[in-house]
Amino acid sequence: MQAHINGFQMAFEDNGKGLPVLFIHGFPLNRKIWRPQAEALREKFRVITPDVRGHGESEATAGVYEMELLADDLAALLRHLQCGPAFIAGHSMGGYILFAFYREYPEWVRGLILVSTRAVADSAEGKANREALAQRVEQEGHQPVVEKMLGPMMAEASVRAKPGLKNEVEAIMRETTIPGLAGASRGMAARLDSTELLAQINVPVLIIAGTADALIPHAESENMARTIPDARLHLLTGVGHLPSLEKPEEMNRALKGWLSINKD
Ligand code: MLT
Repeated sequence: MQAHINGFQMAFEDNGKGLPVLFIHGFPLNRKIWRPQAEALREKFRVITPDVRGHGESEATAGVYEMELLADDLAALLRHLQCGPAFIAGHSMGGYILFAFYREYPEWVRGLILVSTRAVADSAEGKANREALAQRVEQEGHQPVVEKMLGPMMAEASVRAKPGLKNEVEAIMRETTIPGLAGASRGMAARLDSTELLAQINVPVLIIAGTADALIPHAESENMARTIPDARLHLLTGVGHLPSLEKPEEMNRALKGWLSINKD
């Protein structure tokens, strides 16, 4: 499906009936990473999976994609779909967007699902690396991002266990537009630190991370779980940065269990 939202054409899927669960993918990915979850939950929930602007089939715009802008896009989508407060899941950059969303639109949030993400902002070095990557992408195209992110995205064991997964994820990465790659890199570099927000989150939170995540150490998830008042932590042993595709069945069990406790 497509809708003109917040000044661009947004692609999304909206399936199932019941309480809404919105899934926000990370960088440089798109809604395809949530297929196993959408499939597993749609019998009991309304599952909404957008492509962030400039990613997947969503139109790109020029400029910096601040997390606040991407959060506004989600609020506009929820308004467009007239679906009321939702459980919202964010993977990695999707989690950064969620923190911005929760700051701005807490009334839309029934619960948060933080997948392979962190609350802390980038270091000065991290910001400089993002700018360098954005410039290389603008000159060279997708290759620098694929080279930097495809290897560490998944645990070696997952790649061995699932022939085809690596190619699938590379294809997803290459579906991101060039302005989307550059805009999101610069937007992530500019994001606020959300550490102070954690203790103020007053909805239930599920935190999911892989113990073999090479991009965001799972210690970040443990830190968040210690600080958020109503948090449950689910660690997936031996899983890398992309649990939704590496261990979909285990992730779906964790999601279903937590959603069933928190839906009333
Ligand atoms: C992501 O998966 O969204 C990225 O790894 C996040 C980041 O680069 O900080």
